Amino acid sequence: MRAMRLGDARASRVLGSACASHAGDGALAIANFSSFAREDKVRFGEAPKPAREAHALPRIAATLVVLLCVTACRRGMVDQQHLKPLAEETFFKNDAGSRVPPAHTVARGQLRADEQFYTGKIDNQLAATFPMPVTRELLSRGQQRFDIYCAVCHSRTGDGNGMIVQRGFPQPPSLHEQRLRDAPPGHFFDVITNGYGVMYPYASRVSPEDRWAIAAYIRALQLSQHAAPSDAEPAGLKQLQAAQP
Ligand code: HEC
Repeated sequence: MRAMRLGDARASRVLGSACASHAGDGALAIANFSSFAREDKVRFGEAPKPAREAHALPRIAATLVVLLCVTACRRGMVDQQHLKPLAEETFFKNDAGSRVPPAHTVARGQLRADEQFYTGKIDNQLAATFPMPVTRELLSRGQQRFDIYCAVCHSRTGDGNGMIVQRGFPQPPSLHEQRLRDAPPGHFFDVITNGYGVMYPYASRVSPEDRWAIAAYIRALQLSQHAAPSDAEPAGLKQLQAAQP
């Protein structure tokens, strides 16, 4: 940095943003030079104009300093010592780089103590309740996720006639059939998590929270096809009756 004071002003302009944190006492020099830099419209990376050939050497030197500084900012993060998964490492007795976690330990954040939330089961039985309150927000999220991940096969209405099925994938059962209307929410969570028959699992793509949101939305979908007038709120019912021809 000390060399900067004697060096080229244009370098300080770029360095000011790239390496401000490294500048230390050089920051003062950068501030002093900034007005000078504004007069000179030559941009970093542009070829020097012939008339200014006299400035070429300091400019090249400055560019090198800048490049050095930029790489120095990144190297620490990119080029760390590391082992590839399952690579050999003679440091350990069994020459394996990948370590087995000590018995009876759990990595931080992976305890998953809430059985219902993470497995859809309570005491190994499919849960008949949701582990969180079913709010309008949860249903909206569930609708959005269902339309993204499930509707391609199950269709947006859940009748099992989605686009992929129309193109030849085995047809899933309608979500409105009695057996699935009677199924507990834990069943939907379980099917999304582990797959079912030819349907593959979605655990890697849909988080546990979203699986519950989808299960809740499936309940709403089912109700939409089997609702009785008594299920509607009085205001909504009036609106419905007014809309009838
Ligand atoms: C690629 C197509 C496809 C996608 C995407 C898909 N499913 Fe399925 N699903 C199927 C098929 C096919 C079956 C029938 C499987 C069988 O019986 O072998 C099925 C079955 C089911 C069943 C019925 C299980 C039962 O008890 O009979 C449920 C519930 C279900 N899927 C929910 C979902 C949800 C929720 C999603 C979105 C996260 C989803 N599926 C995404 C194809 C799909």
